[in-house]
Amino acid sequence: MAQSYEEMDAIALLKADHRKVEEIFAAFEKATTKAKKRALAEQACLELKVHTVLEEEIFYPACRGQIEGDLLDEGYVEHDTAKLLINEIEAASPDDEFYDAKVKVLSEVIEHHVEEEEKRSEGMFSQARAAGLDMDALADAMRARKVTAMEEFQAGKLAETLTLEGDDTEKALMDTPMGADAR
Ligand SMILES: [Fe+2]
Ligand SMILES: [Fe+2]
Repeated sequence: MAQSYEEMDAIALLKADHRKVEEIFAAFEKATTKAKKRALAEQACLELKVHTVLEEEIFYPACRGQIEGDLLDEGYVEHDTAKLLINEIEAASPDDEFYDAKVKVLSEVIEHHVEEEEKRSEGMFSQARAAGLDMDALADAMRARKVTAMEEFQAGKLAETLTLEGDDTEKALMDTPMGADAR
């Protein structure tokens, strides 16, 4: 009983993104040509860049003050760890040293991070559900943002970190979702 994308609430939508990226990483592991590896790695990077924007601009700010703050802080830092690798991978080619290793480590960072988000009861999504966030309004805001974020990243925008030395950390501390529709 697959749910349509339009019907998904915020958590279903984010989990669907997680499953998609896991499939891409699994395909990368099996890929035998450099062209195929590059296409899959770039697809994973694009999906992850869009996904982190949705979480950082909409879902995480809605969670701020409603769920364990440490968990959220760690989420932002895990995203940034992934973004460093994403920008590295996008600038590299499968001919480069450490290319496969970077993709593998990215997949491991994401695997750990997804577990923190999806873990039963103490995970971020469970806590957000228990806090009574409006998951339908958040889903609508994320669906709308997904379209524009996809365009921005397809046009070549790099992933932007929020918590590293020199970053403007304000965005990682926001407690109100960006976008008027998310309340
Ligand atoms: Fe996520
Ligand atoms: Fe995340």
